This record gives sequence, structure tokens and C-alpha cells, in this order.
Amino acid sequence: MLVTKQNVFRKFWYATVSVESLKDGPKPFVLLNEKLVLFLDADGKTGCLEDRCCHRTAKLSKGWMKNGNLVCGYHGWEYDRDGKLVTIPQFPADQALPDCKVKNYRTAERYGYVWVALEEPLQPIPEFEEEGMPGWRRIHQFYDIWQTSSLRLMENSFDNSHFAFVHKGTFGDINQPKPEKYEITEKDWGFEAETIVTVVNPPNAERITGTRDPYTKRHMRNRWFVPFSRRLDMEYPSGLRHIIMNCATPIDDKSIQVVQILFRNDDEASCSTQELIDWDAAILVEDREILESTSPDAIVDMSRRLEMHMPSDRPGMIMRRRLLDLMKQHGEEEIPA
Ligand code: FES
Ligand code: FE
Repeated sequence: MLVTKQNVFRKFWYATVSVESLKDGPKPFVLLNEKLVLFLDADGKTGCLEDRCCHRTAKLSKGWMKNGNLVCGYHGWEYDRDGKLVTIPQFPADQALPDCKVKNYRTAERYGYVWVALEEPLQPIPEFEEEGMPGWRRIHQFYDIWQTSSLRLMENSFDNSHFAFVHKGTFGDINQPKPEKYEITEKDWGFEAETIVTVVNPPNAERITGTRDPYTKRHMRNRWFVPFSRRLDMEYPSGLRHIIMNCATPIDDKSIQVVQILFRNDDEASCSTQELIDWDAAILVEDREILESTSPDAIVDMSRRLEMHMPSDRPGMIMRRRLLDLMKQHGEEEIPA
């Protein structure tokens, strides 16, 4: 599935860069092969334009902000938040400006990130009621480019057969390869998948899980949001909840920006931000290594060799069916790699 060739994927919100990272100037980002520049205007509102000056095509992300306008670093032309050309410094004050505009895109600020939708979005940004709620903290855990596809990361996020193998160095138990069953409930926006799994609890996870038992249980309430976001709510018997938001933002057909944000119902003294980042980073390194070894074209052939599918492949197959249906609804055929 070549996501950059399927127009419908332009109609969703994706997490791009942190709002914080824009405080020292505009930043480039590639979304579905579109080269973008992200910035903050004079009021601190996020903006997103095509990363291409309409004079001689320089990347606007090489420029800087001036009184809320984006200045091209080549000859100093200035654009407002909507992409309208507002200054050509070489022109005399009484000379009219040409009617030029750089393409602009809609943005939203949520969970400390700038979300971008290239076209009118079909769904809202996934909701996290824990945002700003007393007793909860939000941690920006992970932000990195992976050489895989968005669908590969999503199907992996619901595949509980890989724990025993890929995560044998962290929470998986190589002697327990049989996955627990997921209860899956389909929704307009994706699906909910619920299960309880037993996990290994090594010493460096004890403050994460809130128990010193060598094994513990995770009540997993996992949600997939069409097309490439998920929320994983992991509740431990200690009462601790570890809720991860992932957005597998498609850069192109072979690479993704992995954004991971964590919500926890404890405090810094119980488990430090660094411990939480280190623990989940170790898990993500395991996922990354195996996912980057797979083909980014995430075809799951549902018609042939059905006997090869494990029950734990079901979430990924539902995703693929839903995405194919979505394309059909928008008059698109799948363009295979
Ligand atoms: Fe941008 Fe000349 S290329 S001002
Ligand atoms: Fe994993």
C-alpha cells in the first residue's frame, strides 16, 4: 500500500513536530511526501506552509520569523501565516506587490505537538481525556524517524504474538508464546481491543508497574484510530496506569515519524521521567529493529494461505480491510508497491 499515492490519507491529522521546537524558528517536515515548513506566528499560533518560496524556490524552513511573518533566507521575501506574500524588501515602498501565495495547510496544537492535515480531515485528533486532568502527567517520550511504514507500526501495536520474541529482553516471556485473546469492538473511528496479559517484571520495571513481583499483569485497552494513531491504556494491579499515544506519521512510503507521548497517574517521586523514557525506549528499540527488517509495503494477503494467519493477526487484517474500504468509499483503488 503506497500511502503517498492514496489521496484519502491526506484527509487525517498527523502529529509532526513539538510546539516547543518551533520557539527558536521555523522547522521543515515531510508529510506524505509534501515538503512543509512549520512555524509560530506573532501570537504563538502554529502555521504550516509549503516549504518553497514562490520567488526562486528556496526552502522557507531555511529562513526565520520576523514580526510573525516567515522570511525567506534567500532574498528576504516575507509571508504571513496564510502564505500570502506581504513584503519584497527590494521593492520601493510605493511599488505594488505581486499577488503571490504559498500553499498553506491547516494545523492544530494538541498534547504539545503540531498536528497537520493536508486536506479537510475526516476525523478529529484522537482524544485523551487525561490531558490536563489533575493527577495525571504528560511525558514526551519518543520522537524518531523509522525506516518502515505507518501500517507496519500500527499492526505491530496490536500484535501480541511478538511479545515473547521481540520483547524477550524487556517484558516478554520466551516460554509463553501463546497470545491472550483480544476482544475487538469496531467503531466508526477504528476499533477497541481489550485483553489481559502476563508480563515479566524485571527490577528496572518495578517502579513502572508499581510492584516487585517477578511477573505482573497488564490490562490492555488498546484503541486504533484510522489510519495511523493508537492509544494503549495499560493498567497494572497496583492501580498504576501507563497510557501511550503513538502516531505513526507517514513521511513517505518507506519512512515514518514515530511520536510517542505517555500519560501516567503518578508523580516524579514515584517514577522519574527519565526512568519512564528509558524503559519504553528499550522496548521501542526492540520493535524498531524487527520492524525495520520487514518490507514497508504492509500487504496482508487475506485471500490466500489463510491457514498461515494466527489469531493475533486479526487486528492487522481488520485495519487493512478498513483502510481498503475507506479508499473505496473515496473512489480509490489500492496502488500496491
Ligand atoms: Fe525566496 Fe528569493 S527564493 S526570496
Ligand atoms: Fe512491540
